Amino acid sequence: MSGIFITFEGVEGGGKTTNIEFVAKALEKAGKPIVLTREPGGTKVSEAIREVLLSKELPAMHHDTELLLMFAARAEHLQSKILPALAQGKWVLCDRFTDASYAYQGGGRGIDVSRIATLETWVQGDCRPDYTFLFDLDAQTGLSRVRSRGETDRIEQESIDFFNRIRAKYLEMAKQHSDRYRIINAQADLPQVQQQVADVLSDIINTQQANTLI
Ligand code: TMP
Repeated sequence: MSGIFITFEGVEGGGKTTNIEFVAKALEKAGKPIVLTREPGGTKVSEAIREVLLSKELPAMHHDTELLLMFAARAEHLQSKILPALAQGKWVLCDRFTDASYAYQGGGRGIDVSRIATLETWVQGDCRPDYTFLFDLDAQTGLSRVRSRGETDRIEQESIDFFNRIRAKYLEMAKQHSDRYRIINAQADLPQVQQQVADVLSDIINTQQANTLI
């Protein structure tokens, strides 16, 4: 039995975390078994790595260190939580995954995509998300939303150019993987964003139901 793997991506401030909870509730209502998780993090070890990655107390780290820590956290998360849940037929909802490494460490930091692809294959084999929601909005609007909420982490303190490159990389990936990407206009108000998410989700549920009938 194989579950469904859905990831949620986008620059900061797009309402990704609020909407993943909305999706979780809707799936539970539809009787689907779910696992709600996040990256970097999702397990004790990976959450400890997250602390290191986002800490403002530590000195700056090399870009390669950041990338490798993202994948170290991912290896642990995948092996001990995501793959077992998928094997049990669960719907795994993950707040960010490897596309964030392509967008932030690739697009943002400028690490060569081929190096990220090597790590992706090494850590994940052929495991890829079935669907990816991209919460797309102007990076400046997103950052202003995050900064108005107060405390920012190490990555959220980067420049607007860094976040513009990240958004561009996400949009490039959405084109490249149009089969699994679903773009949500996150510039809109929350009710309108949730309506878009609900429409996409019901489409996904219908597709999955049709697939199980074949
Ligand atoms: P969050 O704010 O969505 O919880 O994500 C934590 C931060 O980590 C966010 O700024 C994006 C960043 N990140 C990467 O840079 N690379 C990755 O592979 C992942 C999963 C997250």
